[in-house]
Amino acid sequence: MLRKYILPLFLTLLITALLLYWIGGDKKETMVTENKTVTEGDCWTGAGIYQVPVDGDGAEIRYGRELIVNTALYLGPKGTVAQITNGMNCQNCHLEAGTKPWGNNYGAVAATYPRYRDRSGSLESIEKRVNDCMERSLNGQPIDSSSREMRAIVAYIQWLGKEVPKGTRPKGTGIKDLPFMTRAADPAKGALVYTNTCQKCHGANGQGQLRQDAKRYEYPPLWGPHSYNTGAGLYRLSRFAGFVKNNMPNPANYHTPVLTDEEAWDVAAFVNAQPRPVKDLRNDWPDIRTKPFDHPFGPYADSLSEQQHKFGPWQKTK
Ligand code: HEC
Ligand code: HEC
Repeated sequence: MLRKYILPLFLTLLITALLLYWIGGDKKETMVTENKTVTEGDCWTGAGIYQVPVDGDGAEIRYGRELIVNTALYLGPKGTVAQITNGMNCQNCHLEAGTKPWGNNYGAVAATYPRYRDRSGSLESIEKRVNDCMERSLNGQPIDSSSREMRAIVAYIQWLGKEVPKGTRPKGTGIKDLPFMTRAADPAKGALVYTNTCQKCHGANGQGQLRQDAKRYEYPPLWGPHSYNTGAGLYRLSRFAGFVKNNMPNPANYHTPVLTDEEAWDVAAFVNAQPRPVKDLRNDWPDIRTKPFDHPFGPYADSLSEQQHKFGPWQKTK
């Protein structure tokens, strides 16, 4: 009687076990694969320092990574190579050496440059894009395309993104867009968020805090003379809010955001209403119709004020 069931039952169990083993084994395989681009969830995550090749161009890639992580030691006010930037590190904004999902990483750069950019109205190489951040986010001077430093930075960025198919932008790369609010972002509400959630690290005057060696920041500045200038990406509210939502207070991430969307927009409005170095932007956006909705300086192709472009609400403009 019972025997009749034993064989089918046994077979079912065996098949289930094999199936589970196969699924489990498959997962494991993706984790330890040779592939330098490991996926976290379904978001792009960059390879770490131990995956940089030991020989070949490994040394150059490692130097490029080091320049991203500790920019100030080489190019800051006390830099050993040149003194041409404000003392911030690329990594302050391109988190975890430009590898963190939604941490303004470099995942899509190798695959999408050279690329036409409306801001400059020209085809931009990776070198040009790096120098954009030098001159704006680091409020400094560009470095020569053939310099050892630029070659190394580009080698690192290309290595990080080398497995991303040309012309694609995987999920998790760059900054995650936040949904718009129906009202304008409010600097007064943002001031409260700042005092409660940001000030203990970034300082009462947004000035940040240097490390003991006085060469790099422990907490980078958010405004004032040593911060990014008015031409920088973070000076656009959508970039700041999207960055902060998924990364701040440090070390928040997109799995465990701390701020609500509204708090992120409002604190962006507060910080970007504070004084900072001014960049001459007369040559930006040669075709004003291509200005992004939150570009804070006129003239515009539409009739909305600078105030509304800067703080929103934006539904009507886009
Ligand atoms: C103050 C913050 C900040 C600092 C410091 C900074 N960047 Fe950026 N960077 C940004 C923002 C914001 C963007 C634009 C992101 C966007 O539009 O989604 C950007 C964009 C880039 C891009 C293009 C990314 C893409 O996918 O198109 C590259 C390359 C880059 N930065 C390199 C650098 C390098 C190299 C340094 C250091 C020399 C640096 N950045 C320092 C904020 C910063
Ligand atoms: C626990 C300390 C801490 C808190 C709290 C914190 N931050 Fe940061 N923040 C950091 C550190 C550290 C970095 C640089 C990250 C790195 O280099 O890896 C950073 C980087 C940044 C950057 C990019 C670099 C720059 O200086 O422009 C912005 C923007 C920023 N934080 C905004 C905020 C805002 C807004 C809040 C409050 C909602 C906040 N942070 C709360 C520690 C903190």
